[in-house]
Amino acid sequence: MASLFGLFKKQNSVIGLDIGSSSVKVIQLRKDKGRVILETYGELATGPYMEKAVGQAVALGPDILSQLIKDLFKEANITTKSGAISIPLRSSLLVTIDVPELPDDKLAQMVPLEARKYIPVPISEVMLDWSVIPDMREELLGPEEPNAPHNLPTGGHEMSKMKQVEVLIVAIHKDTIKQYEEIARQTGLEAKFLEIETFSAMRASLYGNRGATVIVDLGAATTKVVILDQGTVRLSHTINKGAQDVTLAIARSLNVSFAKAEEIKRKVGLVERVGDRDMGETLSPIVEYIFNEVNQVMVEYQKKRSRSVEKVYLIGGGALLRGLPEVAKESVYAPVVLGTPFDRVEAPAFLENILQAVGPEFAVSIGLALRGLEEL
Ligand SMILES: Nc1ncnc2c1ncn2[C@@H]1O[C@H](COP(=O)(O)OP(=O)(O)OP(=O)(O)O)[C@@H](O)[C@H]1O
Ligand SMILES: [Mg+2]
Repeated sequence: MASLFGLFKKQNSVIGLDIGSSSVKVIQLRKDKGRVILETYGELATGPYMEKAVGQAVALGPDILSQLIKDLFKEANITTKSGAISIPLRSSLLVTIDVPELPDDKLAQMVPLEARKYIPVPISEVMLDWSVIPDMREELLGPEEPNAPHNLPTGGHEMSKMKQVEVLIVAIHKDTIKQYEEIARQTGLEAKFLEIETFSAMRASLYGNRGATVIVDLGAATTKVVILDQGTVRLSHTINKGAQDVTLAIARSLNVSFAKAEEIKRKVGLVERVGDRDMGETLSPIVEYIFNEVNQVMVEYQKKRSRSVEKVYLIGGGALLRGLPEVAKESVYAPVVLGTPFDRVEAPAFLENILQAVGPEFAVSIGLALRGLEEL
């Protein structure tokens, strides 16, 4: 009878699977009477599956990727097949556009036409989704009274023109979705949904915070910057430099292999010397380059919206580089903190320090699993 009982027992666990270019992360969470409990988590580097080093960004085909995921599930003792997978931002398009405020049916005709201008492939090849971004003035002040004067900036639109609304457009290539469905099939994963990593990262970081917030995801090959305000995505920007460039700089400077340089990077970061070399001097320019660009994006937004950014969260494996937050703080004119997405889950006390340390890397997978639990 025990097995029969098991058969009907409600499944309370879900996994969040973040397929990054340099490493794949998984987390398994369980819901127990409203509490969110960490069951297990793990990570596996992609490089070695293509005879490349740990920390290197590689593009794995669905077959090898599925093998890696199966290995990861085994290693991390994953016990459920129910969950969600993130779609990389680079395989999607996230853009906000201004359109005239029109009735819903007219807007539904107009947005795909406008979206075409930003989508480099035929519109029939993508899955398109969009939503009107709530007018911040309305949210802050309540609905505007007809003809009531207001002192807040109107975003540069002339009053004589038609009122404009901002629309967030999300497009994913259908081939990308097919690939992920194939991976789910090969790994036996029952994917409840696919979600662009940006939205997962946002869920894990925001805590219902509605102020202007920046999330900086320091991945291996690129750094993704997203600005959120009033709980929705306002802007996304990708910087073509990432944590892998730090490893490459070490390899060049010390004349060692990528693998060796990766090892050194994780040990010494920006704060120690290697022989007579001050690693901070070698590496800070890369980190400064990245954060100067982050700052630029942020300042532009602040100017356009007359809003000040309240917090900058650092996530992604690159954020684990020792000394990086300090350099980031120098370059960015807003409070900078490391993401601590594990705060959202209950875990054994003895894991506290390690979870704090690796937290930023798991932001996307945690965000996915949190939504997975909501949808149980
Ligand atoms: N302890 C550490 N110290 C310094 N750097 C680290 C540490 N752990 C991981 N990294 C770096 O983090 C990077 C990988 O980060 P992450 O796993 O977030 O990237 P990814 O998700 O694979 O990339 P992407 O999101 O761009 O596809 C690598 O460059 C790696 O060297
Ligand atoms: Mg990533």
